[in-house]
Amino acid sequence: MSDLPTLLAECIAVVDETMDMLLSRTKDTEMRLFEAMRYSYTTGGKRLRPFLVTHSSALFSVDKNCAARVAAAVEFMHTYSLIHDDLPAMDNADTRRGKPSCHRQFDEATAILAGDALQALAFEVLSAPETHVDPAVRIELVRKLSQAVGVNGMCGGQMIDLLSERIDELNISKITRLQYLKTSKMFTFSSVAGSIMGKGSYRSYMALHDFAQEFGLAFQITDDLLDVEADQKKLCNAIGQDAVDGKATFVSVLGVERTRAHVSLLVDNAISALEVFDELANPLREAARYFTNCTN
Ligand code: IPE
Ligand code: IPE
Ligand code: MG
Ligand code: MG
Ligand code: MG
Repeated sequence: MSDLPTLLAECIAVVDETMDMLLSRTKDTEMRLFEAMRYSYTTGGKRLRPFLVTHSSALFSVDKNCAARVAAAVEFMHTYSLIHDDLPAMDNADTRRGKPSCHRQFDEATAILAGDALQALAFEVLSAPETHVDPAVRIELVRKLSQAVGVNGMCGGQMIDLLSERIDELNISKITRLQYLKTSKMFTFSSVAGSIMGKGSYRSYMALHDFAQEFGLAFQITDDLLDVEADQKKLCNAIGQDAVDGKATFVSVLGVERTRAHVSLLVDNAISALEVFDELANPLREAARYFTNCTN
């Protein structure tokens, strides 16, 4: 089996090609909206959620083209969430991945519309016949992604995140819930997508669900640590912005050392959840370690 960097590069190539194929170019005045949508996913990104779709699909021998379409849909949704996350009314971030955020490159109204249109595109792709031959599977994908991003998913988490700036003390269980909704729900959708498309057993579905839930939490806490510590994101995001904004994170409550220990525990839990799978699940295991800096 190829090593993780090779698999990640392969995934980026496939999903980027698929996104370009799926985002149809407009010719008229609304071209500006197309440009803002495309700008926002071509400025970089790890394509981690597409990677989860791709390698959970491989466990069930799902057709690669179907998996690529679902991977692209998830990345469109993720891109929308980041465009809106950066808006002045939310995190007010001028840069994303070291480049002007969408509303700085274009304008606020265009950024709002670009996010809206990317979200719509994600559902259009999932519901298209080319994505899966079985309509029941397509509906299940749409339903599960809707749940992952709605009030009991990413948007709900973003709401708590914004409110947390005004709450003096959020305890660990409340922060866990915030991060579970904000980040883990999209990770869980991406990981169970393979099982949905491949009609896996309940046991394998739950194994992927539990893996992604713990990995998502570990990933978001790592992102919070990076915000404090500078490191790989130092050229991209403003450092210490969460603290300036008064965001409640594990780091603000537990401190750096105890937070790192917690991440390591979550990653162990994530990997344990995959015990039902053989070495085909190694890319998922390795991604969980790599993206949380738990490689030793
Ligand atoms: C950013 O996600 C938002 C968080 C959940 C921390 P990623 O770190 O996956 O963003 P990109 O797509 O790789 O830039
Ligand atoms: C955003 O979390 C997560 C989303 C659901 C969009 P952050 O606000 O911490 O993400 P970054 O640090 O801006 O990438
Ligand atoms: Mg945010
Ligand atoms: Mg942000
Ligand atoms: Mg952050």
